[in-house]
This record gives sequence, structure tokens and C-alpha cells, in this order.
Amino acid sequence: MTPAPLSPPWDVHRLPSAAGKSFLVTGGNAGIGYFVAEQLAATGAVVVLGCRDRGRAGAAMAAIRSRVPAARLRHLPLDLADLASVRGVADGLGLDRLDAVVHNAGVALDDPPRRTTEDGHELMFGVNHLGHVALTRALAPLLSAAPAARIVTVGSFAARSERLDPDDLQSLRDYRPSRTYGRSKLAQMSFAFELDRRLRARGSTLLSVVAHPGGALDSLTPPRPGVHAASRGTRLRALPAGLLLQGKDAGAWPIVRAVLDPRVRGGQLWGPRAFGLRGAPRLEPARAHMTDPAVAGHLWDASCDGAGVEAHLGLL
Ligand SMILES: NC(=O)c1ccc[n+]([C@@H]2O[C@H](COP(=O)([O-])OP(=O)(O)OC[C@H]3O[C@@H](n4cnc5c(N)ncnc54)[C@H](OP(=O)(O)O)[C@@H]3O)[C@@H](O)[C@H]2O)c1
Repeated sequence: MTPAPLSPPWDVHRLPSAAGKSFLVTGGNAGIGYFVAEQLAATGAVVVLGCRDRGRAGAAMAAIRSRVPAARLRHLPLDLADLASVRGVADGLGLDRLDAVVHNAGVALDDPPRRTTEDGHELMFGVNHLGHVALTRALAPLLSAAPAARIVTVGSFAARSERLDPDDLQSLRDYRPSRTYGRSKLAQMSFAFELDRRLRARGSTLLSVVAHPGGALDSLTPPRPGVHAASRGTRLRALPAGLLLQGKDAGAWPIVRAVLDPRVRGGQLWGPRAFGLRGAPRLEPARAHMTDPAVAGHLWDASCDGAGVEAHLGLL
């Protein structure tokens, strides 16, 4: 018997065809999300950019089409800070199934004061985490209609050094912007790992995967007219940082792999190869505090309550 051929190593520049599939990328108009959308568009899939500003979405779609003329793109108006609007968002998609959603959009504040969403949630926890919980619920029927859909959550290095305080998830007592950001990313990751455990327990074909971009700087990112420009001076000054960090085009690689690679499994964490900061995607071990079921169990209930959705998310 001839042995099965080994699958070739993953090549970020030679992605498999995904013709016939459809993917939604939140925050697909800028930064890492833009490059995730651009790279996925080249696979032949329908790519939906979930973004809050029609003009920025249009500019991103024009930039993608200038590089991928056959790109099949749509814009879904999406403001993750407005939970009521997120709940009805699937109606505007015009799709009968969704093969993957990438929970990429995010906000990272540098300075106090503590800010809140329309719904009264701390802004970073509200947009990065609760907005995506509400979105998962809204998309549940479309994700369930695909044979083996994926929910890809974009995590962060910043979550490594943080811990969730179950009594202060909204940073009312302890608000320090960078730490509150790190905790919002940890909440996203912890929830995503718990979602995968619950999906596996039900024998679901849906996968929940976490991927992170390492350290991805605008100043190391190639220009895209109408979307991103960095002056020559800025790019030159950033060159030393390029030894350790990367551009947002490369930051997209682990996320795109988590969407496309048939070898990816639910509950996995993907990130860049070199110190988790730059380079080609590789599988990483998740830290124990990210996968603690006791922490995640409390977070689950608080998150579904905060997002105003049922604990079964329409998936369990
Ligand atoms: N860059 C890094 O080194 C790094 C490291 C670890 C993790 N990450 C994660 O990677 C993801 C993307 O980061 P990035 O660096 O590409 O950020 P970015 O360039 O600031 O882009 C953020 C995206 O999120 C969107 N967004 C913000 N608030 C939103 C809302 N209320 N509703 C809908 N969309 C909203 C933005 O839309 P607008 O254009 O409308 O503002 C934009 O498209 C984030 O989840 C971030 O936490 C980044």
C-alpha cells in the first residue's frame, strides 16, 4: 500500500482555494482585518467586511479589488459598540450560510478616563468581547448552516500577563487602559476556548479557534492607497523594530491560516513563529489561565448576560 502523501507545509503566499465559501471579517476596513480580508479575497471566497463606516468600507473594498480584481466583496454595517444593532445584523448579510467569522475588530485605548459603550459597558470589554459575543449569537443560524464553520477569535500577547477578576470584569475598580485592554483580549480568548469545549461536548462540527498576530505595527505595514499610508521616514525609523515585530500584513497570517487550513482543530491557538511576535504561523500552547474552565464558566454567564443573549448562543 502506498503511504498517503504528506500535506505540503503551509505557505502564506499560496493559499488553498476557498471558492464557494463565505467569510465575515469584523473590522475588515483597516489594520490586520484589512489584510485578513485581502488575503481571503484571493482564495475565491465571498468576503464580507463588517465595519461601522460605509466610506472606510468602500475604500478597503476598492484597495482589495485593485490587487484582486476578481474579489467577491460585501460590506456589512456593523457597530460592535451598539449591541441592539448587532443582534439584527445577520438579516443584512444576504447569505444562506457562513463558513467562518473572524472576530478581529478591536479598540485599544491609551489614556484614561474609563469610557463606556451606548449600553453602559466599559468600552474595550464592550466592543472587543461583548460585541463579538452578540455577533456570534446573531450569526448562529448561518454558521450552523455550513458543514464545518469556524469562529476565529483574534487574541493577543497582552493576555498572557493578565488575569480576569470575576468581580470586576468591567474594570470599575481597577481601570488602567493597557491592562483593561489585555483583560478584554483574555476574556475573548477564554470565552473562545470555552466555546470550543462546549461545542465538542455536543459533538458539533463547528470549530472555535484562537489566533493572534504577534506584534504588528502600522509603521512596518506596506501601503494600501485609501486604507493605509506610512511616510518613508516613518518606515525607515521603524526598520530596527522589524527585527522583532512585523507589519499588519504578516500579522494577518495566523488568522488566515486559522480560517483556511483543514489541519486546524477547534480549541487551538495559532500565532507567529518567532517568539510569538513575528513570522509564519505556528501552533502555540495556550497558557493555563486562558483555558481555566472555572474562570471561563463565570465569564460565560456574565458575558451572555452583558451581551443580552441566551447562554446557548443558538449553537449549543
Ligand atoms: N496590532 C497588534 O500588534 C495587535 C497585537 C495583538 C492583538 N491585536 C488585535 O488584532 C485586532 C486588530 O488590531 P489592529 O492593530 O489591526 O487594530 P486597528 O488598526 O486599530 O483596527 C481596528 C479595527 O477595528 C474596528 N473597530 C473598532 N471599533 C469598532 C466598533 N465599535 N465596531 C466595529 N468595528 C470597530 C476599526 O474600525 P474603524 O476604522 O471604524 O475604527 C478597525 O477596522 C484587534 O482585535 C487587536 O486587539 C493587534
